[in-house]
Amino acid sequence: MTSFDGNEFEFDFESRIVSTEYDDNQDGSVEPSLRPKTLDEYIGQKTAKENLKIYIDAARRRGEVLDHVLLYGPPGLGKTTLSGIIANEMGANIRVTSGPAIEKAGDLVAILTNLGDKDILFIDEIHRLPKVVEEILYPAMEDYVVDIIIGKGPAARSITIPVSRFTLIGATTRAGQISTPLRDRFGVVLKLELYTTEELATIVKRSARILNIAIDEYGAREIAARSRGTPRIANRLLKRVRDFAEVLGKGAIDREIADFALTKLEIDKLGLDSVDRRMLEVIIRFYGGGPVGLDTIAATIGEEAVTIEDVYEPYLMQIGFLSRTPRGRCCTRLAYEHLGIPFTPNGTTVNQIDIFSTENREKDI
Ligand SMILES: Nc1ncnc2c1ncn2[C@@H]1O[C@H](COP(=O)(O)OP(=O)(O)O)[C@@H](O)[C@H]1O
Ligand SMILES: [Mg+2]
Repeated sequence: MTSFDGNEFEFDFESRIVSTEYDDNQDGSVEPSLRPKTLDEYIGQKTAKENLKIYIDAARRRGEVLDHVLLYGPPGLGKTTLSGIIANEMGANIRVTSGPAIEKAGDLVAILTNLGDKDILFIDEIHRLPKVVEEILYPAMEDYVVDIIIGKGPAARSITIPVSRFTLIGATTRAGQISTPLRDRFGVVLKLELYTTEELATIVKRSARILNIAIDEYGAREIAARSRGTPRIANRLLKRVRDFAEVLGKGAIDREIADFALTKLEIDKLGLDSVDRRMLEVIIRFYGGGPVGLDTIAATIGEEAVTIEDVYEPYLMQIGFLSRTPRGRCCTRLAYEHLGIPFTPNGTTVNQIDIFSTENREKDI
């Protein structure tokens, strides 16, 4: 079985502590050891887990190959982990690759024709498969065959070759970007949700046990509450807090040390960092709280629109700070209150302070 040892595809996103993206520097040393190996160890995601259990049981009982599975949801919620678990539970081999890594149709044909019976092929970031490559997948998923063209010009002919019965697991942060023909060929489509504080606290305690870190319930909850609903961040914060606990002599993590460490790292009570706060400030101060278009926000804070959509917004929407409307993004009353700004939406107080001046940035507006 291929191990998940940090060779996942990475975006070129800036590396911040509360980024949900995999970061080899921050996560590489611990992530493999912290990945649950079985469905029972996998915390939360009740609906997805219950469904999967049924499909896996049924496939095993009939001795059949598992239906193709599409996993979608923001980064760091456990898509890669779940694909490993599925392989484990099915007792199948897994071959791991990613959309952008497969450049030519021939690359995918080579992968497919080398699969063994009931193997699992995991394609991360499947929405980034080039179109010509994607088309190879259709007959492979449906009829376990690939069509290839041999020769050139008038002598060219198409031949169909069989591939083993396999299960494709696709993972994506952007279900909306998957073409309909591809999406329709997945028998099982599972959406992963942001985790509750309770679930994250359980994950933090489990990780602490594996990493041999002493932590109490309150310490775990403090870290969980500041992890933006994302296990990857929870594990990352745990590691950082441990450093503080060791240096400050206490050794064990309690609420006080967790709060101290995370405040020092400029991660506030809700897990927002300076980039989140800057984005909310921009919407409120420059655009009267919204509505304002995604591209405008992106240009103003100097971040890519897709990054804002995939990485920042899911959590800000979950905690009710941001809403998406047909006319653009709006900050809610809760966001104003969190930032300590009087709630006067729709442009009545466009306070044009220069939030990018060093002076103001240091004030941590
Ligand atoms: N349900 C879960 N229970 C426990 N730990 C989890 C869970 N989901 C994710 N994790 C942890 O979070 C980390 C990131 O998960 P990963 O599967 O790489 O996310 P994704 O592929 O969705 O970006 C994993 O190393 C794992 O330790
Ligand atoms: Mg992943």
